[in-house]
Amino acid sequence: MHTLIKDVSRHEGQVVTLKGWLYNQRSSGKIQFLIVRDGTGFIQGVLVKAETDPETFELVSQLSQESSIEVTGVIKPDERSPWGYELAIQSLKLINQAQEYPISLKEHGVDFLLDHRHLWMRTPRQMAIMRIRNTVIKAIRDWLDEKGFCLIDAPILTPAACEGTTTLFETDYFGEKAYLSQSGQLYMEAAAMALGRVYCFGPTFRAEKSKTRRHLIEFWMMEPEMAFVEFEENLQIQEEMVRYVISRTMEQNARELKTLERDISKLACVLRPFARMSYDDAISFLQDKGHEIQWGEDFGSPDETALASHHDGPVFITRYPTAIKAFYMKPDPDRPEVVLAADLLAPEGYGEIIGGSQRIDDLALLEARIREHGLPEEAFRWYLDLRRYGSVPHSGFGIGIERLVTWICGIDHLREAIPFPRLINRLYP
Ligand code: 4AD
Ligand code: MG
Repeated sequence: MHTLIKDVSRHEGQVVTLKGWLYNQRSSGKIQFLIVRDGTGFIQGVLVKAETDPETFELVSQLSQESSIEVTGVIKPDERSPWGYELAIQSLKLINQAQEYPISLKEHGVDFLLDHRHLWMRTPRQMAIMRIRNTVIKAIRDWLDEKGFCLIDAPILTPAACEGTTTLFETDYFGEKAYLSQSGQLYMEAAAMALGRVYCFGPTFRAEKSKTRRHLIEFWMMEPEMAFVEFEENLQIQEEMVRYVISRTMEQNARELKTLERDISKLACVLRPFARMSYDDAISFLQDKGHEIQWGEDFGSPDETALASHHDGPVFITRYPTAIKAFYMKPDPDRPEVVLAADLLAPEGYGEIIGGSQRIDDLALLEARIREHGLPEEAFRWYLDLRRYGSVPHSGFGIGIERLVTWICGIDHLREAIPFPRLINRLYP
């Protein structure tokens, strides 16, 4: 059996066999230094010419970057090593000699790297991001499980739009039109009426025509939905969840955050209560700052960045104009021109990470809104049933995994926060 690099500290002084890939190599003529990675970590292996048979020494000197190998040797503590241990190599077996590897350890342009995403994943930064993504997803799920939410899978092929008709991906469903899901929310509303507290987690699709660093065509979203939860409680739940996820990532991924050179003091801001700002106040604030924006308009990226940098932690922007938000959001009973919705903006200019709202629970109002939005009533018949049979106040939200990961990692584009990004001009690899 072979040993994983992450476990070598338990084998100090012992002979172990590691299996992995050659990440980097240098030689002083008499000694060869190999950096081996196996997905769980990195370790430097040392091979001394005087202590090795000539064939092995020659084989090692011919190894190319990313060749797969099996190395056996003694684990020794090494204070100078960033990994704390070193492997004194006794023997090495070549599994596959890599051909000339396109990604050298020097800098490459991002288009080149994206074309080679399947190989780019092997680099320390990208591996760190994927590990953090894994923690984030697990942390959200653990938190929801703990709070009694039930995972309900939403369909991907759907008959209608949830988040506006302009970003729908249309496909042919045996002669009928179908759309790739923009959000599982409407199905979660049905499930919440069955199970109380539910969530879905899956890929969602938006044919976003704009090319920005915050938009993916395919992204993953976690969408909790809760019966008998109203606007205010919905925000408290989001705040508690985000705080938990960030704290857990800081705890479990200190090494990865270090690889990414993330200033973690910036993440600790989530420990304080999140700020709140009404849409009205946000507009006045932006106008005072000289932004060209009028009440009734949606925020652009520079607006969001200005709002976020005014606060030193996440901020909820609440009560947006009814006219610019989704058809299902409940208007504020005291002020129907705004809805009981809030977006959570991440600090440091990372933009909106959560969109949530209380939903309309009144049948007649929902019917009217569907008509006003020009949506096909036929496709929403089942959704309207939820208001016919024991309708209750309910709320929910959607948290974009890549937006959250991008912020936690402190990287500047969403494309690195997902294993294989789908962008307006990219469907490969
Ligand atoms: O604000 P959105 O569009 O809300 C919904 O889809 C609701 N149905 C959610 C709900 O209440 N159940 O999207 C929610 C979140 C955004 O805050 C953002 O984090 C992310 O999804 N998101 C995107 N992430 C990457 N690329 C895109 N094109 C995204 N669009 C939205
Ligand atoms: Mg939104």
